[in-house]
Amino acid sequence: MNNAVAGFSKLSKKEKISWIANEYFSNPEEALAIIRNYWNSDEKLQQLHDEFIENTITNLYIPLGVAPNFLINGKYKTIPMAIEESSVVAAASKSAKYWATRGGFKATVINTEKIGQVHFTYNGDSQKLADFFTNIKPKFFSDTQSITKNMQQRGGGILNIELRDKRNLLENYFQLHATFETKDSMGANFINSCLEQFATTLKTEAQNAGLDLEVVMSILSNYVPNCIVKAEVSCNVEDLTEKHIPNPHDFAARFVQAVQIAEVEPFRAVTHNKGIMNGVDAVILATGNDFRAVEAGVHAYAARNGQYSSLSHAKIENGIFTFSLEIPLALGTVGGLTSLHPLVKLCLEILEKPSAEELMQIVAVAGLAQNFAALRSLTTTGIQEGHMKMHLNNIINQFEATDEERNLIKIHFKKNVVSHSAVVEFIQNLRK
Ligand code: MEV
Repeated sequence: MNNAVAGFSKLSKKEKISWIANEYFSNPEEALAIIRNYWNSDEKLQQLHDEFIENTITNLYIPLGVAPNFLINGKYKTIPMAIEESSVVAAASKSAKYWATRGGFKATVINTEKIGQVHFTYNGDSQKLADFFTNIKPKFFSDTQSITKNMQQRGGGILNIELRDKRNLLENYFQLHATFETKDSMGANFINSCLEQFATTLKTEAQNAGLDLEVVMSILSNYVPNCIVKAEVSCNVEDLTEKHIPNPHDFAARFVQAVQIAEVEPFRAVTHNKGIMNGVDAVILATGNDFRAVEAGVHAYAARNGQYSSLSHAKIENGIFTFSLEIPLALGTVGGLTSLHPLVKLCLEILEKPSAEELMQIVAVAGLAQNFAALRSLTTTGIQEGHMKMHLNNIINQFEATDEERNLIKIHFKKNVVSHSAVVEFIQNLRK
């Protein structure tokens, strides 16, 4: 079979689907039925989703859940989370409840600066380039006025533009390093439009001045180390009760140790931070934000001191246990999917229409809560007990259990340890 195809994007949706079904399936009708099964019966809604991307054939669902009882800066929030991993929402809800009776979560936005760069090469005297840059700097602002006007009205805009000499890294390499405030929008389009105009201005002015300068590319940076939010919980060590460890001081000490391991050990740090991102990404997805951008930026931040390390920290000082998380988050609550996707709009309403700064706080809290739940399990019972309990449903579904079988399985595994093989064996015995 030759799986290459010419002009695929020009085919109709029906033709695209037929091609896929015939090309890759021995039973094309069965494949078509699955694809159609996930179409929305509301044709307009389906069309909306079709048009988000190119070559849409159907929709891939992931569950949208909610974790209630999050006390954040004194106000209760119900956090929407879109995620396929079975234990995440349950863990978030459990942490929310735990901390609601211990003062809740405190969250603070430290700063909100976004970054973009024009990368270029220049072959010549660097002082001449520096003087040229100083001369034309006001022009970068005036040439972008039509782009920045609305953003300025909302209190944002271009903060600064610097010329950076990067010749220690690459021959003739320089940058315009620009910083932005984009208020409630994530700002990618705004920043990239400004940068492309900077590049045009730079090229034109360099030509007029007879400089040997060539623009390579202009793009925002998803690394935003000055767009930081901090989330924190704290309580008296005595109040850090945990049913599996009778003495709260022992639980606190073990918890702090678990965080210290993630601070010094990259193999552990990656998994530790993955647990944080379970919470972060679920809210990012539910609110229509760009989880790839957030992931890339967060992990770069975790490695900012030269070694990949924990994003969260824990300490015991003067009888107080404190657990905190600091992460860079470039988020938007206007623009992009936030006004296009009906479920994203609904999630933002559940969050009571937050500003981007409020959303940063909520997301960081979800990350910290998730991390707390993971470390609490890891330092007490281990995670498998909870994970497998949640995973039980997936195994039951995989075996297409009847309602009666389902009941018997649930009763049995209330008292017995869940493992994939134990469930399979139990089902097979039931079916004998
Ligand atoms: C699983 O999705 C996340 C954990 O592995 C996080 C961690 O180990 O801290 C439980």
